[in-house]
Amino acid sequence: MGDTEKKVKLIDSDGRRNDGRMPHELRPVKIEAGVLHRADGSAYVEWGGNKVLAAVYGPREAHPRHLQKPTRALVQCRYNMAPFSVSDRKRPGPDRRSNEISKVISEAFSSVIFLEQFPRTSVDVYMEVLQAEAGTRCAAITAASVAIADAGVPMRDLVVGCASGKVGGVVCLDLNKDEDNFGEADVPMAVVPRTGQIVLLQMDGHLTAKEFDQAMAYSLGAAQQIYELQKDALRRRYSVSLEEFRAKEATASPEPEEEPKYDVYHDDQPGVAE
Ligand code: CDP
Repeated sequence: MGDTEKKVKLIDSDGRRNDGRMPHELRPVKIEAGVLHRADGSAYVEWGGNKVLAAVYGPREAHPRHLQKPTRALVQCRYNMAPFSVSDRKRPGPDRRSNEISKVISEAFSSVIFLEQFPRTSVDVYMEVLQAEAGTRCAAITAASVAIADAGVPMRDLVVGCASGKVGGVVCLDLNKDEDNFGEADVPMAVVPRTGQIVLLQMDGHLTAKEFDQAMAYSLGAAQQIYELQKDALRRRYSVSLEEFRAKEATASPEPEEEPKYDVYHDDQPGVAE
């Protein structure tokens, strides 16, 4: 442990963390689906101080063509951090970290999307981190998953990203920025909640086997909570459309009575002579 780490008190005498949470508590999470109209599907996630936007296109013809797979679709993901998303300006454009995150997220979605139904195509997933405060890859996966569902791309289930780690010797769920910087370990993962399949697992730092089990138990429990928020966001998106549709139907003026297509003869009609 370095000098800086010693100075930062991450767990107080009541066992609370520096943002007031207990070790098993998540930061507040908000999810909205269908926030962009140009993309086929989109979502916005606020997770603690993280703000992430995801946009999805496809399945559409894969470009460049030499990447096309004759028997299945590709999943091409791009995770990007905006220059203004962190306290020091981030140099725009891809770097090793964002390339790595894009790759592991592509692999995670490749195991849930029914790729074999769309040969030669690509599902393009863009994740833009507008504000970062630790755990952006998990927030990005969570947003992208809702955006893929919003685009109507068939998949086995939604995917939820969540991280746990170790802070001041205590295993904690969902590390914040100080905990990520000065803690001992961080384990981001992504899970398919319906089956429990783990589709992404990374580890930064060291945990004992027992601590690792505790971290996984925290993340899997939290994933179920986030899964409910994802489904709720999708329900809100489509139930609003249905409500709007019904409201339109209810207020629509009744069909105008059809004008007769021929002259109707009335006895008393002026100007009509026998
Ligand atoms: O964001 P995530 O935890 O998935 O990835 P990380 O590589 O562990 O980064 C942790 C945090 O460091 C990010 O969420 C950002 O808040 C911060 N960071 C930064 O300030 N500047 C960067 N170039 C990259 C990350």
